[in-house]
Amino acid sequence: MPADPLYPPRPAAPPAELPLLRYLWAFRHNGIKAWPHAAYEDDVRVRTMFGRKILLANTPDAIRHVLVDNHAAYGRTRATIRIVRPIVGRGLLLSEGDEWRHQRRTLAPAFAPRSLGLLARHVATVADETVARLDRQQGRPVDLAAEMQGVALEVAGRSMFSLEMGPFGAAMRPMLLRYGETLARPRFLDFLMPVDMPTPHDLLRRRFERRWFTLMERLMAAREAAPSAEGSARDLYDLMREARDPETGAPFTAAQLRDQVSTMITAGHETTAETMFWALYLLAQSPEWQEALAEEAAGVDLSPDHAADALDALPKTRAVVQETLRLYPPGWVMVRAALEADTVADVAIHPQDAILIAPWVLHRHVKLWNDPNRFDPTRFLPGAAPVDRFAYLPFGIGPRVCIGAQFALNEATLVLARLVGAYQIRLMDSAPVLPVGIITLLPDRRLPFSLERRRPRSVPTQRAA
Ligand code: HEM
Repeated sequence: MPADPLYPPRPAAPPAELPLLRYLWAFRHNGIKAWPHAAYEDDVRVRTMFGRKILLANTPDAIRHVLVDNHAAYGRTRATIRIVRPIVGRGLLLSEGDEWRHQRRTLAPAFAPRSLGLLARHVATVADETVARLDRQQGRPVDLAAEMQGVALEVAGRSMFSLEMGPFGAAMRPMLLRYGETLARPRFLDFLMPVDMPTPHDLLRRRFERRWFTLMERLMAAREAAPSAEGSARDLYDLMREARDPETGAPFTAAQLRDQVSTMITAGHETTAETMFWALYLLAQSPEWQEALAEEAAGVDLSPDHAADALDALPKTRAVVQETLRLYPPGWVMVRAALEADTVADVAIHPQDAILIAPWVLHRHVKLWNDPNRFDPTRFLPGAAPVDRFAYLPFGIGPRVCIGAQFALNEATLVLARLVGAYQIRLMDSAPVLPVGIITLLPDRRLPFSLERRRPRSVPTQRAA
């Protein structure tokens, strides 16, 4: 077990600003190691790369300016478009301007509270199946990272497509993993070349993109072939297919629908899986919180019919999820390219300069958090001092805020409650697990957990008078 389990291990920050080559190397191998110690204390840090400024914004005011007040002056960077487009196409994540507005307006109802109720049922069903499977493996070490990836993919598949993801997951996971290990790592030319001038890596990415979208089309074909329930929409796919732009009445074209499907699966499942994994990793080192959550879970009905109602009765579990997202934000950096001249934190910004808003740094910034590296879910319990909403950005903020934020929070809360309610979870080895930032924030190694079935808790009885 690590020295002080309430201070989970993290990679050492470099003592000083890295020279350019090592800075780029860090982004290719583990981006959270790109920033020096001082980044966690300074309001803003500026460096240049190929004649362009890169500004790391750490103050709520600067972040509000870039992501909210003047958001139209910023877009996705060349490197982001190159790396992310092959897995999300022209769906919501990468679209800009009028195209983005059309997509966001059209998709919004699919993520409204009514749809989140549908989701809770799917989550609870997958969580029950996971517990049943883990029960059959009693006594054997469990790879909870792989388990959580399976859970998140299955939830995404069922809530979006009402399809079991087994065969598709078996094809998708290795593809995404391989992409993350190779083509998703930024190269020099990704920053330098305009997006419409393909680099050698872009050609490989396009090949990947063709294979990936063929798989997405197979998945959609399987869904279309499945018998449909009469009446109201039954899953996110129905909701997206039936969605109409509120202003023009236009539906998505077949290609747009495929790109949205791909966006929702990729943007949604890995991030949520990591959140659940890191939460379990933290809880395995904090028996007190684990017990508190088990007790909370014992008092609620987490079955598929009642899961949606259970959410309000799980404040501690939700606080653990929120604290996990603070310490291990899967979206560890948001990058914007300036489209026009601007001023951010008194620094003159020119077109093509980059603004970095890094939840990894922000959430551990000494001016914004008390004892920032400590795992302390009480920060998010009802009644705690409110958290500055520009200092805590696991889902971003402003018009481009994550459309699946509630979906993810609900899913992670329900799965965590179900698992911790069922098992006492322990680490089986004491070597630290460190986060690695490439597209999201993965653990640097797989580690075994032991799961021991909890005895059913006795229901408190009224004392005889
Ligand atoms: C814990 C899980 C998740 C985390 C940490 C996360 C994080 C983020 C962040 C930080 C952004 C903003 C990016 C930016 O401003 O540059 C974002 C956007 C987005 N997320 Fe999530 N996300 C999660 C789950 C999901 C889920 C479950 C879905 C879909 C079902 C989803 C779909 C999207 C989409 C489509 C966008 C782009 C929104 C837009 O540009 O209008 N995410 N997410």
